[in-house]
Amino acid sequence: MKSLWARKPIADLIPETADGKGMRRTLGTRDLIALSIGAVIGAGIFSTLGTAAAGEISPTGEVIRAGAGPALVISFVLLGAACTLAALCYSELAAMIPQAGSAYAYSYASFGELIAWIIGFDLILEYAVGNVAVAISWSGYFDSLISPFVKIPGWLTHGYFQVKASSNADIHALLESAPRIAGIPFILNVPAFLIVMAITWLLVIGVKESTRVNNVMVLIKLAVLALFVIVGAQHIDTANYHPFAPNGFTGIHHGAAIVFFAYIGFDAISTAAEEVKDPQRTMPRGLLWGLGICTLIYVIVGAVATGLVPYQQLASSDPLAHAFEVAGLTRFSWIISAGAVVSMSAVLLVFQYGQPRIFYSMARDGLLPEFAAKLHPRYRTPYVTTIITGVLVAVAALVADDVATYDLTNIGTLFAFVLVCLGILVLRVVEPDRPRPFKVPFVWVVAPLGAAACVFVMWGLPPVAWRRFGWWLVIGVAVYMMYGWRYSRLRRGLPPHAFED
Ligand code: ALA
Repeated sequence: MKSLWARKPIADLIPETADGKGMRRTLGTRDLIALSIGAVIGAGIFSTLGTAAAGEISPTGEVIRAGAGPALVISFVLLGAACTLAALCYSELAAMIPQAGSAYAYSYASFGELIAWIIGFDLILEYAVGNVAVAISWSGYFDSLISPFVKIPGWLTHGYFQVKASSNADIHALLESAPRIAGIPFILNVPAFLIVMAITWLLVIGVKESTRVNNVMVLIKLAVLALFVIVGAQHIDTANYHPFAPNGFTGIHHGAAIVFFAYIGFDAISTAAEEVKDPQRTMPRGLLWGLGICTLIYVIVGAVATGLVPYQQLASSDPLAHAFEVAGLTRFSWIISAGAVVSMSAVLLVFQYGQPRIFYSMARDGLLPEFAAKLHPRYRTPYVTTIITGVLVAVAALVADDVATYDLTNIGTLFAFVLVCLGILVLRVVEPDRPRPFKVPFVWVVAPLGAAACVFVMWGLPPVAWRRFGWWLVIGVAVYMMYGWRYSRLRRGLPPHAFED
């Protein structure tokens, strides 16, 4: 039993790259900030902002969750503060342990194998499940973007479970009108599937090429949000700011728990630690700058959106484009949709990039089968895990419901943040002398406060999300007992698996 808590020596976590066999170190601070903005600004601001401001309303008109109203900007500021605390902790760990596994690797060094496995399994919620939601949202925007030119039938742009759960009568009717195969309605989200597969291909052929594509997408998303702010600001009606917080602090809290999705991703860049030049300096800079820039953008976009139209009107799956339509700025709303499609492609790219690197780390430790630790002989990317992740996410996006996946992603990510905040304290105690190129200032205040803030945001999520999360962890422990427990290299006294072509 004791070996369940065996901690992995940090020296083992720092991979040998001098022999040129590891991944290539090609990324600098600017690439990291772009990766961060690429990961962070996406479905959260383009989709969940609406629910966070207006609240979640049932098909019968009942309020399921209170919205923040114009006070959404406070939700953004509070989330920015909570994430900054977590980002500081991530920075210390990423600089100290520049390894592809992110929170998984840090937990292995601080809490031991069982917790590390749990966190690795938990991160699937953040990366893979989160990307299912983003891919579905991407597909919705893509459909509205091309609909003036090409009409795709609804049963090819929605997933079966999305249609089943929808309160929109037109969408729900697809259950009846879709073609049937052996009596089962044929309802598949084909664009969501195709975009994930396209991105997977991009990632297999190499990271530097992909970051270049990412940089272009980031510039486009910033330009579109700038357009939203500049045009929107000229049409603000200050009467929309009253009442400022229609549901008091509860609304701000619930709004924060929903729109937390918009912040997910700043931590994803830590999975690139093995491909970063001078990670000790570059990592903290990339994390903190990326988060700071995104928070600022969100506060401004939130203020403009809630000033442009009464907050209730933001209850839409495309709130920013919709706000422009309501305000009579129709010709700009198409541009916003185009920006959303590009933004979400960038998000998909970063998460499809991160998930395989976590699987790769776990495979290298023997907690997943060894074939997953293979690097591509020519591109030096973890192509096996990249392809497996791509196929799993793409297939799930064919059928899944986006709404159910947002909350699950949020709760899983917040849990990872809590463990990172606590892990840094554990390491300060058990490895006080280990060199820390970046040290969190006032760590005994910052880290516990970061953990408490994340738990508080988790608390704003509905019971069903907690139940699903609980089940996910139970499944994770079961998988560990069946595989990792037996094959863990640490428990067998072996060093991490060598790089393999
Ligand atoms: N933060 C990312 C998004 O909003 C996950 O799409």
